[in-house]
Amino acid sequence: MKNKKVLVVGSGGRCHAIVDALSRSPQVEKIYCAPGNAGIAQQAERVAIGVEDVEKLAEFAQQNAIDLTVVGPEAALAVGLVDRFEELGLRAFGPKKAAAQIESSKEFAKRLMAKYAIPTAGYEAFDSYDAAKEYVFGRPLPAVIKYDGLAAGKGVVVAESYDDADAALKDMLLDESFGKGRVVVEDFLAGPEFSFMCVVSGEKVYPLAMAQDHKRAYEGDKGPNTGGMGAYSPVPFVTAEVEEFALERIMKPTAKAMVAEGVPFKGVLYGGLILTAEGPKVIEFNARFGDPETEVVLPRLESDIYELFDAAIDGRDCDTKWSDEALLGIVLASKGYPGSYTKGAVIEGLSGVSSTVYHMGTAEKEGEIVTAGGRVLMVVGRGKNLAEARKMALEDIASIKCDELFFRSDIGHKVLD
Ligand code: AMP
Ligand code: GLY
Repeated sequence: MKNKKVLVVGSGGRCHAIVDALSRSPQVEKIYCAPGNAGIAQQAERVAIGVEDVEKLAEFAQQNAIDLTVVGPEAALAVGLVDRFEELGLRAFGPKKAAAQIESSKEFAKRLMAKYAIPTAGYEAFDSYDAAKEYVFGRPLPAVIKYDGLAAGKGVVVAESYDDADAALKDMLLDESFGKGRVVVEDFLAGPEFSFMCVVSGEKVYPLAMAQDHKRAYEGDKGPNTGGMGAYSPVPFVTAEVEEFALERIMKPTAKAMVAEGVPFKGVLYGGLILTAEGPKVIEFNARFGDPETEVVLPRLESDIYELFDAAIDGRDCDTKWSDEALLGIVLASKGYPGSYTKGAVIEGLSGVSSTVYHMGTAEKEGEIVTAGGRVLMVVGRGKNLAEARKMALEDIASIKCDELFFRSDIGHKVLD
């Protein structure tokens, strides 16, 4: 019966794709999105509440008899949105704060993997600069150094020289302007990366289709790391055998381990994996849908996504069905991203495209769509194969007019060029 009301929390392209998938559900009558964006507004009613304003979101859910709330961004999980909703008897799809640590604390994730023999890079954690430097300088390059602390944005440095490694350690361990940090130093793993997102409910794991992200800003995988400049699905080098290994040896044992540790996971567990010569290994876990992977994965879901979310909340079985279509999405980002950029540039030509366009950071101003973020739009082409999907996306991008945007025309190059 088409009578369910859903609240989606978030505002980026990932949330647009979730809203789009929910709009295809035979059960969903009404979708709200807090706070949403200009594109999401075409499919959901926007609610002017921020993603971390848990009390207001809970009040909205109660007053509007929301059947299910889907949480997009990590920030909302980290402030305990799901914990609070559950206290109030509200149904929310996403992990509680303690389980979301698998993303927010690198060391928590690394310890869990070590304890339960989940394949990942070897590591050491440090809070002293001198000890970290001595360790890194005694090992081969490249050095993989990951910040582990509350200050976001310092992220991960893969240093090709000892000077770069030293600079990263100084930044992460000696500059305490954001608070005191720790670092995790990892073995360098070589191989192609892929993203394996699974809906998880305690020990139950419902795998989603594979995707690959492109993290560097510029063509040829050059330039700074970004949130992701494009993605595609399926991923040809992830064979059935690799998928089986990733599911049985990585995702399922991780779900089990979280239960055993007293922090059962419910929501999307995102495995950032790398296919090494010894098989897939974990680079990172996220506690949420990936962005931009979600924008190429969810359109391939042919079964009811509401049913999947609902089943996961209760721990019921749920089969998923995926289309054979190939999807490839290209991000249009503001010039200057991931550094500083301007906002408010008018975007024209959106109505003429046949690709699906997910809005990542847009606003509406006097009836026009304008840029309002670093990543602005994701243009998702589709076809029988990835080459067709890319062609469609690139042709559509050519008809979208905005001087303030740039994109990578080589998304999919690892498997196409
Ligand atoms: P993360 O934020 O942990 O996903 O790391 C960002 C990027 O750094 C990854 O997408 C990889 O390209 C790279 N990276 C992280 N850890 C490793 C590792 N142990 N070996 C090789 N590359 C890595
Ligand atoms: N695309 C990587 C992420 O969502 O973290």
